[in-house]
Amino acid sequence: MGDGRVRVGIIGSQFQADIQAESLRIMPDEAEVVAVASPTAGNAAALANKHGIPRVFTDYREMLKERDIEMVNICAPNSLHAQMTKDIAAAGKHIVCEKPLAMTIAEGEEMIAVAKHHGVLLMYGEELFFTPKYLKAKEMAEAGAFGKIHLIKQSEKHFGPHSPWFWDVNRSGGGALMDLGCHGIAFCYWFLGRSPIKSVYCQMGTYVHGDKTLAEDESLCILEFANGAVGLIENSWARRGGMDDRIEVFGDAGVTYANLHMGNALQTYSENGYGYAVEKAPTTKGWTYPVFEELWNYGTPQELNHFARCARGKETPQATGEDGLAVMQALYAGYASAGEGRKIALPYQVPPGVKKPIDLWLNGSARTQAAPR
Ligand SMILES: NC(=O)c1ccc[n+]([C@@H]2O[C@H](COP(=O)([O-])OP(=O)(O)OC[C@H]3O[C@@H](n4cnc5c(N)ncnc54)[C@H](O)[C@@H]3O)[C@@H](O)[C@H]2O)c1
Repeated sequence: MGDGRVRVGIIGSQFQADIQAESLRIMPDEAEVVAVASPTAGNAAALANKHGIPRVFTDYREMLKERDIEMVNICAPNSLHAQMTKDIAAAGKHIVCEKPLAMTIAEGEEMIAVAKHHGVLLMYGEELFFTPKYLKAKEMAEAGAFGKIHLIKQSEKHFGPHSPWFWDVNRSGGGALMDLGCHGIAFCYWFLGRSPIKSVYCQMGTYVHGDKTLAEDESLCILEFANGAVGLIENSWARRGGMDDRIEVFGDAGVTYANLHMGNALQTYSENGYGYAVEKAPTTKGWTYPVFEELWNYGTPQELNHFARCARGKETPQATGEDGLAVMQALYAGYASAGEGRKIALPYQVPPGVKKPIDLWLNGSARTQAAPR
């Protein structure tokens, strides 16, 4: 166990790497980013410059040789999570893997096994477990505010990802369900005290972005939990107007609605526009809803602070590889459901030859195509 702050290396230098570096700057007491690794040298250097990160690598395996680094955060495309996890674990460092955990269930299982084998923690980057507004809803639920909960909804929507690899199903594994639904599945599972997921029913389509991806840009997903509650998860890459993230919780004694961005936002009208409103907002002119302390409201600083404390044995991980694996199971069942047009029971046995979740929908007999390709 080291002393002082936990020294962190980040793999990746773009969107989520920037959020993580900024998050660790916002809550600097437990951890500091000492290195960044990304194949495009200029990009890694630019992130290092922006956040005062002293060491820059183009090959993450070189970064893993740095003895003082204790925790390595994977902010790279989904298809690379498994190999990177194996390399980090073999280097004896704790792992923070961004969502979704992996491309396949088998990869996820291997990641968990390899972390155990090397005696390191595999922590799962699900910030909704740390989002202050959603934590408040969970605290109220646990205090009995809503009585017995029978329905939870979570939705995350925007007009599509910022980076080309997300649109390539061989690097992402799937579209809106894989990218955003992994948050909703994790959220319902966590909110319900990790009651096992019994079945998944899912409907999806490609309505707007068929010219650039095979992936679904709309997805509706219903989860049945062993404790009798139902989760409804709505995801979109086809929703105009920037990021939208919300939950609804229904019980026999009450209800709560929480919109992650609205209610924190300033209701704003501007003829001239201004710098920045909210993630993925296309404009700052006209009516807009700029948020403040955006990363804090997402929960990423709190998440990484907690993970750093876990690396030092001060806390037990609240979001783990096992959580990510439970989500992967539900994602596979979701794509299989949309492909077969029926409810799928869990645990789901992936048929041989299926390389990624979306294959089950793309090759499914019930696939409907809303837009010609
Ligand atoms: N928790 C969240 O809300 C959230 C938000 C966005 C992204 N993510 C996840 O974070 C991960 C990264 O997404 P992003 O939005 O930052 O993507 P991005 O395209 O913005 O950045 C990807 C980074 O990975 C780097 N990379 C690619 N190949 C690499 C390699 N072989 N070695 C090292 N680095 C490599 C790229 O150079 C780039 O810097 C994804 O798994 C994504 O799902 C999570």
